Amino acid sequence: MEQRLAIDLVAKVNHWHHKFKLMEGVVTPGSYDPGFLLNLLELPPDMRGIRALDIGPSDGFFSMHMALRGAEVTSVDYRAKTAHGFATMEAITGLRFDYRQANVYELTRADLGGFDIVLFLGVLYHLPDMMRALDIVDHLCDGRLLLETAFEPSLFPGTAVARYYESATLGNDRTNFWVPNRECILAMLRDCSFTVDRDEAWGNRILVDARVQRAERSDKMILAYGRLPG
Ligand SMILES: C[S@@+](CC[C@H](N)C(=O)[O-])C[C@H]1O[C@@H](n2cnc3c(N)ncnc32)[C@H](O)[C@@H]1O
Repeated sequence: MEQRLAIDLVAKVNHWHHKFKLMEGVVTPGSYDPGFLLNLLELPPDMRGIRALDIGPSDGFFSMHMALRGAEVTSVDYRAKTAHGFATMEAITGLRFDYRQANVYELTRADLGGFDIVLFLGVLYHLPDMMRALDIVDHLCDGRLLLETAFEPSLFPGTAVARYYESATLGNDRTNFWVPNRECILAMLRDCSFTVDRDEAWGNRILVDARVQRAERSDKMILAYGRLPG
């Protein structure tokens, strides 16, 4: 695509969250440059043959970088792709994505299949039921989960707790619900079927690199959202 046209398309998007380069001379005017997090993820440089799921991609910085490495990328967001910069990123880069406008709570393995890598970045604190979402992610993930979230660094250290934010009291944003501490994040992941390989924190953000231990969901979670045996 011609640079002039790309610049015009970028300018037509109401709001960019991610600041990133789409092509030579074309950088989106987002307030958040996620380049440092891409490095922290330690994604394989060659992702050919890898099925990757990006939950809550927003403008698609991470989806784009996985597609550039050759991954087959499914991106799921409850906003339409034209409601943020994703559609423009897709048009300018010419990369292909399986974009689904869906709520994380609607995702099923029957619909999407399983994924080698799942990115779950900047989404957990937007969810009213963290365990249900992690159980769904567990069900979709056949390999590695990269979870990044806001966390409470000094809330009851040593005890797994989460703080509930009523209404829009966190960041003046009514889409925020819970912010867990580190212990809580790790405990919730263990109660699904994840094993944590690595976690790194900076300020009030944390990245957890985990992998599924079993092909099956954990018994505790099957019971939690199912029925007691008769
Ligand atoms: C803070 S942005 C994170 C963007 C990107 N993953 C990152 O880390 O830079 C949260 C994204 O998750 C999406 N989102 C929030 N709640 C969701 C839900 N229940 N189901 C699907 N998408 C959701 C939002 O629309 C938004 O695109």
